[in-house]
Amino acid sequence: MEIGIDKIGMYTPNQYVDLVELAIHRKIDPDKFTIGIGQDKMAVAPLSQDTISMAANAAAQILSDADKAAIDLVILGTESGVDNSKAGALYVQRLLGISNKARVLEIKEACYGATAGLQFAKLHIAQNPKAKALVIGSDIARYGLDTSGEVTQGAGAVALLVAANPRILALDMRSAYYSSEINDFWRPLDQLIAEVDGKYSNEAYIKFFQMVFEDYQQQTGYQLSDFAAMVFHLPYTKMGLKALRKVLDQTDAAHQDSLQQHYQQSTLYSRRIGNIYTGSLYLAFLSLINNDMTLQPGMRIGLYSYGSGAVGEFFSGTLQGNYLDMLDPMHYLEMFENRTKLSIAEYEAQFKKQLTPGIEAQKLITTDLNAPYYFAGIQAKQRQYKAGA
Ligand code: CAA
Repeated sequence: MEIGIDKIGMYTPNQYVDLVELAIHRKIDPDKFTIGIGQDKMAVAPLSQDTISMAANAAAQILSDADKAAIDLVILGTESGVDNSKAGALYVQRLLGISNKARVLEIKEACYGATAGLQFAKLHIAQNPKAKALVIGSDIARYGLDTSGEVTQGAGAVALLVAANPRILALDMRSAYYSSEINDFWRPLDQLIAEVDGKYSNEAYIKFFQMVFEDYQQQTGYQLSDFAAMVFHLPYTKMGLKALRKVLDQTDAAHQDSLQQHYQQSTLYSRRIGNIYTGSLYLAFLSLINNDMTLQPGMRIGLYSYGSGAVGEFFSGTLQGNYLDMLDPMHYLEMFENRTKLSIAEYEAQFKKQLTPGIEAQKLITTDLNAPYYFAGIQAKQRQYKAGA
């Protein structure tokens, strides 16, 4: 029995910052951002979108009533959750009308959380083949104004429906993982913005990739030439390329070119959205399958997940026969085209406001037509979520 990704949906907020404008404002050469880092735009979440509402908006795009009745596992991977105790996935379950006969939980391990959820879901479906599992990665990445990490901020969510006989990607049961406690990136409980040792985090990302990719090759006997494409967790689009380049010499020149061309297709969405932490790897996968018309069913795709702190995992899957029928690339082009560009002053004002204690107590509304769900404010210390723009 094959198990894997049956449906995939994505949501990103409807406002962004142009990174050339940000570079000029910060007195930095724009080429550093667009070429050196590999980012063009950065999504900015308004106060009315948080990890829960973004997760609900991503999942709402893909779930039928039959899916909602069949789902018996809901996992939200996030590192920018809104409660220290209660799982954000419970709100998502209620908002979307998913069956109450479900296990519902949140997983945290930096950007790796959704991959942990996907692997958990895979094993769950192996034991319960008639069930379906919903796995979501949803995050707002914040490093702070005028920091070196600022250009790698972003916001959004990716939802995966995991099932037997999947129609998009059948996952290999094997995977290779490596964990070690390090301080490359973290966010203390009293902070809304992350702490990061940028250079060290880059090194750790690459080192973990090399280790888990080698382990996976030993476990499976696959060579680099067995992978049509490799997709990566993308904190920024140059990062995955740096890792890919470390292993390219394992294959011939034609395949090297091919892997790099596929890689470019996998970065198109991240270039316009930025880092969405837990969802970033799956955003890269969605970008690849929505934009790369040279892919064929049966091709093997490698996936590298990295969560600072740190955990790395490499796994793979094969594209299924009618995977193109499960996709709607136009929807995402429209989503990008309908976004509003914020001036740097507007972005900075919003950023500062969001760090103001108590701001969430105000009554919030939304005008985002792609976002049926939104955060409406806090009453009696309880978060309020509403549907309808
Ligand atoms: N034209 C073209 N390229 C230029 C340039 C110019 N004018 N100026 C600089 N560059 C290039 C540099 O040569 C460099 O390229 P290489 O890395 O290929 O050598 C690149 O632009 C970046 O320059 P710097 O290294 O000087 O950039 P920086 O010190 O300002 O910081 C960063 C870059 C470390 C990624 C920083 O943005 C950061 O800390 N980001 C957050 C942490 C992060 O994303 N880490 C990634 C791994 S951890 C992870 O993956 C988990 C997660 O999601 C957080």
